Amino acid sequence: MATNYETFEYDVLVIGAGGAGLRAAIEASAAGVKVGLICKSLLGKAHTVMAEGGMAAAMGNVDDRDNWRVHFADTMRGGQYVNNWRMAELHAKEAPERVHELEAWGAVFDRTKDGKILQRNFGGHRYPRLAHVGDRTGLELIRTLQDHGIHQGIAVHMEHTVVTLLKDGDRVVGALGYDRERGRFKIFKAGAVVMATGGIGRAFKITSNSWEYTGDGQSLAYDAGAELMDMEFVQFHPTGMIWPPSVMGLLVTEAVRGEGGVLRNKDGKRFMFDDIPDNYKPQTATDPEEGWRYTQGDKNAKRPPELLTRDHVARCINREVKAGRGSPHGGVFLDIAWIKEKLPNAAEHIKRKLPSMYHQFKQLADLDITQEPMEIGPTTHYIMGGIRVNGDSQMSNVPGLFAAGEAAAGLHGANRLGGNSLSDLIVFGKRAGEFAAKFAKEHGAGRINEAQVEEAARRALEPFDRGAKAGGNAEGPYQVQHDLQEMMQSLVGIVRREDEMARALDGIGKLSQRAGQVAVFGHREYNPGWHTALDLKNLLTVSEAITRSAIERKESRGGHFREDFPNKDAADGKVNVVVRKNSDGTMNVRRETIPDLPAELKQVIEEMK
Ligand code: FUM
Repeated sequence: MATNYETFEYDVLVIGAGGAGLRAAIEASAAGVKVGLICKSLLGKAHTVMAEGGMAAAMGNVDDRDNWRVHFADTMRGGQYVNNWRMAELHAKEAPERVHELEAWGAVFDRTKDGKILQRNFGGHRYPRLAHVGDRTGLELIRTLQDHGIHQGIAVHMEHTVVTLLKDGDRVVGALGYDRERGRFKIFKAGAVVMATGGIGRAFKITSNSWEYTGDGQSLAYDAGAELMDMEFVQFHPTGMIWPPSVMGLLVTEAVRGEGGVLRNKDGKRFMFDDIPDNYKPQTATDPEEGWRYTQGDKNAKRPPELLTRDHVARCINREVKAGRGSPHGGVFLDIAWIKEKLPNAAEHIKRKLPSMYHQFKQLADLDITQEPMEIGPTTHYIMGGIRVNGDSQMSNVPGLFAAGEAAAGLHGANRLGGNSLSDLIVFGKRAGEFAAKFAKEHGAGRINEAQVEEAARRALEPFDRGAKAGGNAEGPYQVQHDLQEMMQSLVGIVRREDEMARALDGIGKLSQRAGQVAVFGHREYNPGWHTALDLKNLLTVSEAITRSAIERKESRGGHFREDFPNKDAADGKVNVVVRKNSDGTMNVRRETIPDLPAELKQVIEEMK
């Protein structure tokens, strides 16, 4: 009986405890409701910390020409105009206030000489806009929110995994999860649920995401009837470590380029000068000296091509490698050491500005970045798509289900600008918490359906039943996970083609069958095989959504590049691709026209051109 499971009752349940989840929990709690927070691993261990270089907010501390209008226009242009413009507007307007709030809560930002929050250059941002703490900004964000949240009376459930969202009619009224330590099921009743579980990086072989990021939120929401949008737009961050193999994919912050780092091929050539997109030509340096001056804050200089948007930089790196001009381990070189030609105290400067990068390379690759170039290559970092939400409230099409941060779609369109994720988390985490609390107050608790609980628990335990029946002969979950990652990387990666994606769909079907047969052994306490078996379903759902959406979009835009349709298409540029679960369990894919921009916002974009 479901009543045997330990049950917790909250007004708002937040699933995921990175920046968006913590900020949502703080806001809901401040609204006077009872809040529960579930984290898949330990509190504070979140992909948020991988946004190292800063959070974007048009405060104008370093260049007073910056304001919300420029930030809005940059975000729309970076996202190639398929963004949810309302979210882009709210984000640009509210980010500065959210950053100041963090400062008031104790975040220790780097400072300008006159004591303001220091802001640095990043790809696609017209002016220095990233408030930062060296190259540990995400970490500082999490630390600050944790310290603040701890005093708000939020109940934290660490090392818990959610297996299904619970519904009362159309509405979401809680979740069923289990604790990893004992493997016991728990019911979390809630008036509203905020999904803040982050991304899907583990669907790919090379990723900056750690083991938690298996698309749980997107997949749970999809199963509960929520629409997913823009899933074809996956961001491959241009600079991940590629050597040694044990750290492949680990992020090398864009702040290296923001501080003057340059990209070179094996011949020492700065290949980024070879391909500057038309819409960036007037603002991008064609002369290296000018690019250097830009990174040093010279207002009259143009930005270096290394600071073009991530989608473009990743493709240029890919091109160099494919053409045989790559580095020995299959990437290219990222060089910050060269600045010693310009700065007498360059080594100290690099260690001060990029302390984590210095230690990361020294300890993991035995390389001193103040003296030698790094070897880097693209790494799966982020998904722009996710749960479709209302731009103001962050509620999905399922009543009572909200989403924020990477789990939600809309703000970033086809490509996210670096630094816009941390500001996204605090702007829309706050909004999700506020509106979820409001919803919970208005609607109260729902009714838990015991049959749904029992069915979900039974299904979650099936891999053990198969293990008991099959003995050592059945396949375990790891090989299936590995095969999926290999396949997504090679067939639905940076460069895509219809025939390859059709093969991937076929492969996903076969892998789903295998996943439905995997067996696990042993007991439920800390059983990583069991956890992986349950993660597989989420990985397969998001992989299918990515692949089907990518087949549907017959053009190249932002993070989605089609070799068979290498250009933008005017008609496709007016739609979002939306997927939803059919009643027979199959995936429905449709196109939806993006609402017209209001005249005022159109004018902002025109002015900024
Ligand atoms: O490169 C970075 O520091 C990552 C930032 C981000 O993804 O926003």
